[in-house]
Formats: sequence, C-alpha cells, structure tokens
Amino acid sequence: MDFKIELQKYQEIINKELEKYLRKEQCIEQVLNEAMEYSLMAGGKRLRPILVLATYELLSNMSNYEVCIPYAVAIEMVHNFSLIHDDLPGIDNDDFRHGKPTSHKQFNEATAILAGDGLLNNAYMVISQDIQNTIDTKEMQLKLQIFTEFSKAIDRMIAGEYIDTEFEGKKIKIQELEYIHKNKTGALLTLCVRMGAILAQSNKDDLENLTKYSEKIGLAFQVKDDILSEEGDSRELGKPVGNDRKRKKCTYVSQYGLSGAKDILETLIEDAISCLEKYGEKASFLKGLALYIANRRK
Ligand code: IPE
Ligand code: IPE
Ligand code: MG
Ligand code: MG
Repeated sequence: MDFKIELQKYQEIINKELEKYLRKEQCIEQVLNEAMEYSLMAGGKRLRPILVLATYELLSNMSNYEVCIPYAVAIEMVHNFSLIHDDLPGIDNDDFRHGKPTSHKQFNEATAILAGDGLLNNAYMVISQDIQNTIDTKEMQLKLQIFTEFSKAIDRMIAGEYIDTEFEGKKIKIQELEYIHKNKTGALLTLCVRMGAILAQSNKDDLENLTKYSEKIGLAFQVKDDILSEEGDSRELGKPVGNDRKRKKCTYVSQYGLSGAKDILETLIEDAISCLEKYGEKASFLKGLALYIANRRK
C-alpha cells in the first residue's frame, strides 16, 4: 500500500479511538474537559500511536491491533500533555500550535496547566483500567512491564524538558545536547515501539533491534524539529518558526549549523532503516515512517 494512504488510514483509526475517550457530559468542570479535548483533537500527526500499532503489526501474526488501542490512546494523551506544558509562558512561551492558539492563549494559564495534568492522569487511567480488565496472566505480566516502561519514559521526557529550559542561552557539550534530545523526545518514541513489540510478545532479538530503530528515529525526530524551527514554514507547521533561535535554545542547528544538522539527520535515518533490513517488505511502513520523519514539513 502507498505510504501516505497507509499513514492516513492509521491516523483515522487513532482519531476515532481518541474520540471515544473524550468526556462530553455536562459538569461544573466542563471547560477543563473542553481544554483537554481542544489540544488532543487539534490535528497532531499521531506519530506515536501509529508507531505502537505499526510495530505490533510487524511482529504479530494477528492483524488484530485492538490490544494496542489503550496504549496508543494513552501515549497520545501524554504527548499532548507535554505539548501544552511545553508551550506555557514559563517554558517555551509559544502562542500557536496546530495552527491554533495554544491552550493558555485559548483558555488561560491555570486551565492549560490543569488540562495538561488531566491528560497525563487520563493516560494512566486508561492503562490501569485495561490492566484491570485483563484476564490472561501472561498478558497481564506484559502489560505491567509496559506500565513500568511508560512511567519511566515520561520521567525521562520531563527531565529532558527541564534541562532544555534550564540550558537556554548556555553553551553546552555535544553529549549534553544529545542527552536533552534523547530524553525530551526520544524516550516517548522509543516507548511507543517497545509497547507495540511487547504487546506482540516479541522475542528478545526483535525487541532489541526495534529499540535501536526507535532510538535512531527518536533522535532524528528532534533534530528535524530543530531544523524546521530554523527553516520551516510556520503556516505549514502550525507553530512558530525562529523561536528556538530567539530563546537561545541549545539545538542541533545552534550546535552544528543547518547543514551539519541535516547531515546528522541523514545518518540517523540510514541507521534506523538498516535495523529493518531483516524484516524485508513487512517493514516497509516503518521504513516509510523513518523517511517521513526526515522529509516532513510539519
Ligand atoms: C512535537 O511533536 C514536539 C516534539 C517532540 C518535537 P510532533 O511534531 O509529533 O507533534 P504533533 O504531530 O503536532 O502532535
Ligand atoms: C518538545 O520540544 C518536546 C516535548 C514537548 C516533550 P520542542 O519545544 O523543541 O518542540 P516544539 O517545537 O515546541 O514542538
Ligand atoms: Mg520546548
Ligand atoms: Mg516548544
């Protein structure tokens, strides 16, 4: 199947599933629920949940990806929590995301903070409910492993965000820059691939191999984000361009220059794709995703 069509198919599945988890009922805190929905349904690419599903489908003989849905939904909630907080005045102070005012601009700062908290906690509610509904002992064990990895990855994302913010305007070592990117962005992307593999009851070799793939695309994704912040089109991106430079962020562009960052990106993508060789045609979508990360314009 053509990559773009398959990507769209996955995006539609995710959007439909996310809809099911929205709280529509009338209640006193209705605006808080609306703020959570506002960000969650604003038009993200859904890359993280798609990675869960696509990895599962690569390794599993069953085409039934239902078992992945709670984890795919939960990770997209966490991702949107991270974006709402990332945009706050105290962090990146950005006014636009997905072509719309950011949460604190659309609502207010308190609502944005709490909508982020709400999405993070909803993610845990979705996962813990799924674990409670699981009868099979082996499956339960795997889901508990995922639960642990899930919370550890979020811990890393928060650490990365902290360092990213604290190091603004400072000169840092290359290893420190890599550490920021691997934590703030790479950790969640790696988690997605590992969740898909673990749910597919992957053997150790495949899990290790696909983890390597995920680490390469995870870092590549943030390097590309740095490049887009320098030379992207803000209308296409739906978020501001030039703000990394304005805030004196430590990025691959500030460290290596635009062309140096692009060379690093190319190598990371080549390395990611080489991890997929042994799977042949079956891995064509994951290969397409790696190329998409490198070539994306939003
Ligand atoms: C943006 O992530 C934040 C980073 C980690 C660089 P995405 O580009 O995946 O966000 P969506 O697609 O808007 O949700
Ligand atoms: C976002 O990093 C990473 C997380 C939200 C965890 P950035 O601040 O570089 O991403 P954008 O450019 O705002 O999407
Ligand atoms: Mg940031
Ligand atoms: Mg930001």
